Amino acid sequence: MTSIGYKYKYLIRAIFFFQFYILKILFLWNISSIKKMEDKFIKTSSLESSSSIDFFGMNHEKILFCQDKKTGLKAIIAVHNTVCGPALGGTRMWNYVNDQAALTDVMRLSRGMTYKNSISGLNLGGGKAVIIGDSKTQKSPDLFKKFGEFVDLLAGSYITAEDVGISPQDMLYVYEKTNHVTGLPGKKGDPSPITAYGVYMGMKAALKFQTGSDNLKGKKIVVQGIGHVGLYLLDYLHKEGAEITVCDINAESVQKTVAKYGCNYIDPDKVYQVDMDIYSPCALGATINDSTIDQLKCSVIAGAANNQLMNEKIHGEILFKKGIVYAPDYLINAGGVMNCYAEIHDISDSKVMEMAGNIYQTTTDILKSSRDEKIPTSLAANKIAEKRISDESKMIK
Ligand SMILES: NC(=O)c1ccc[n+]([C@@H]2O[C@H](COP(=O)([O-])OP(=O)(O)OC[C@H]3O[C@@H](n4cnc5c(N)ncnc54)[C@H](O)[C@@H]3O)[C@@H](O)[C@H]2O)c1
Repeated sequence: MTSIGYKYKYLIRAIFFFQFYILKILFLWNISSIKKMEDKFIKTSSLESSSSIDFFGMNHEKILFCQDKKTGLKAIIAVHNTVCGPALGGTRMWNYVNDQAALTDVMRLSRGMTYKNSISGLNLGGGKAVIIGDSKTQKSPDLFKKFGEFVDLLAGSYITAEDVGISPQDMLYVYEKTNHVTGLPGKKGDPSPITAYGVYMGMKAALKFQTGSDNLKGKKIVVQGIGHVGLYLLDYLHKEGAEITVCDINAESVQKTVAKYGCNYIDPDKVYQVDMDIYSPCALGATINDSTIDQLKCSVIAGAANNQLMNEKIHGEILFKKGIVYAPDYLINAGGVMNCYAEIHDISDSKVMEMAGNIYQTTTDILKSSRDEKIPTSLAANKIAEKRISDESKMIK
């Protein structure tokens, strides 16, 4: 009996070790495939920056190239337009494939900020900054302080804030060298919750326009990118009973989110093939492009990412012809900049929420004017933003 007992004991131990090593191999394989996936997306997600653009045709007021060998800082600050007020827009830290990609990105993003601030009725112009580098390995307090010195050189014509790859702590270092910073801890702080609320409002308005109801219950929604904004957005969608699918290149964040909300997960490679009612891009820009647009099986697009259309004219037109309602990105993701504006002008939290809530009505108005004028929604939004800038510049003259 005893020898049989020992045999069982050794057998159980053998099975345990076998399982342990199999699990360990699977785990390592999983991590390495996720790492490969992350590397791949870091290289390709600069897609938005790979097309050639007419730099002077974008009408920027000034571009500042910032370099400091000691700290390794390489940054570009783009001030697009200051007709409605000082240019406000966040700083992004990203490992661009090359310097040209960074320049293209900052020029497109800063122009987007001009339109966003204009259409939101804020007395702000458009600007943006990019720091070239890996936000996981190349940050240092001195790098951000040096960047702050460059921001200060612009004497308030550019006001910075957080964007992808930047934390509130990084901004505190920038603040040591310049006062032209918003979204600081202890003040209005992280703008992402307000951004998410505005996106939620814009999404509901777009759904109502497309289907006659703004009820998200049971709607299949894919949220691409579950970072700062994506996660706050999920809260709203979950509370309303939407059928959520998430997608992110950060496996840990996906695991936590799926466990918290009981939602579905889709591989970043397959996100465009999913059957969905609403596609919500909340990662990086230019995800609506030549290779994705024909795959999209949604009736509404509403997300937080900036510059979602790789080519505003071409892809805006295709979506319009396909009958997909596209809620213009800079219109519905303006909650964050409203929060920054509120910090500068000491506006209460409840008033900011009210301002972000108005995104519902503005979205409805723009979608209606797109339908009435038979033009893409992106163009309808641009027309309103441009009209305000033109009216303001006449007043300045
Ligand atoms: N934070 C704000 O208040 C705010 C305001 C306006 C616009 N935006 C825009 O919204 C977007 C998200 O902002 P955020 O602050 O949440 O950024 P974030 O960096 O916190 O989150 C982005 C998320 O997208 C993921 N991601 C990157 N590439 C991906 C890919 N190819 N597929 C799937 N996931 C991918 C990242 O892993 C990360 O989790 C950005 O485009 C930003 O410019 C943000």
